[in-house]
Amino acid sequence: MMTPTEAAPVTPVGAQTTAAPDSARPAGPAPRRPGQTLLEVSGVSVSFDGFKAINNLSISIAEPELRAVIGPNGAGKTTFMDIVTGKTRPDEGRVLWSEKGVNLLRMSESRIAQAGIGRKFQKPTVFEAQTVSENLAMALRASRRPLDVLLFRPGPDTAGQIAALADEIGLTEHLPRRAGELSHGQKQWLEIGMLLAQDPRLLLVDEPAAGMTPAERQHTTDLLKRAAERHAVVVVEHDMDFVRRLNCKVTVLHEGSVLAEGSLDHVTKDQRVIDVYLGR
Ligand SMILES: Nc1ncnc2c1ncn2[C@@H]1O[C@H](COP(=O)(O)OP(=O)(O)OP(=O)(O)O)[C@@H](O)[C@H]1O
Ligand SMILES: [Mg+2]
Repeated sequence: MMTPTEAAPVTPVGAQTTAAPDSARPAGPAPRRPGQTLLEVSGVSVSFDGFKAINNLSISIAEPELRAVIGPNGAGKTTFMDIVTGKTRPDEGRVLWSEKGVNLLRMSESRIAQAGIGRKFQKPTVFEAQTVSENLAMALRASRRPLDVLLFRPGPDTAGQIAALADEIGLTEHLPRRAGELSHGQKQWLEIGMLLAQDPRLLLVDEPAAGMTPAERQHTTDLLKRAAERHAVVVVEHDMDFVRRLNCKVTVLHEGSVLAEGSLDHVTKDQRVIDVYLGR
C-alpha cells in the first residue's frame, strides 16, 4: 500500500528537465498523455532449437505505468525483455512502440535504446573506478548531442541534474565516493539513476531485489514507484513481498504466455497461478 510517507514528494527525476531547461537536449520530454499505450506486444513467439520459449505472448504497457511481471523460472520473463530491446528477434508477432506505432522489430538494439527504452540487467554495470557523481555525469552526457559528448562540453546545469538524480536514487551523501566502494544495492540504484539520466520512456528492470538486504529492497520499491510516476516501468521479480509493495498491476507468465493479469490479490487467487508458481 502507498502510505503518506512513501508518497512524500522527493525531487522527481523530471525536475532536471522541467526546472532547469537544458538547451543541449531537445526541449525536455514531449508532453505525455497519461494512460496511453506505449508498448504493444502482440502474438509474439520465439523458439530456441525447437523449444517455444515465448508462445503467442501479448502484453501492453501504458505510459506512465508500473507493471510487475512474475512467473516460474524459464517462463520467458527475461526473453520478453530481450525481444523488446531487440536482443532476440521473435519468429512471429508484432512489437509496436509509442503513439506512432513504430515497429521495434525492424530496429537495431541501439536504435531501440535511443528511442527511449532503457534496460537494467541483474548485475550492476557501473564504472567502479569513477565516483557516483562522475557515473551520473557520464550518463547525462550520453543522452546529449553527440558533438557535446565528443567535446566533453558539460550541458548547462549538469551539477543540478546530478543533484536531482542523486536525490531521486538516495545517493546524495555518496556522490564523491567511488562506485566500486558502494554496496550491491547502492550500485543497483546508481545504475537505475544512470538509466533515468537518459530519460527513457520505458524502463525494464530484471530482478532488482536479488542480493539486496530488506532495507535495500524497501528503498528499491520506493525508487521504482517514484520513477513510474513519469515513466513506464516494467519489473521482473520473484520476491512476492517486493511485488506486493510495488502495489501495481501484475502479469503472470508461464511457458511463454500470459497466464493471468490483474492486481496481485487477483492473480494470487487464481488456481492456475497457485499450481504453476506459488504452490511449488
Ligand atoms: N538464447 C537462448 N538460447 C536458448 N534457450 C534460451 C535462450 N534464452 C532463453 N532460453 C530458454 O528460454 C526459456 C525462457 O527463459 P527466460 O530466461 O526468458 O526465463 P525467465 O522467466 O527469465 O526465468 P528466470 O526466472 O529463471 O530468470 C528457458 O527455458 C531458457 O532456457
Ligand atoms: Mg530471467
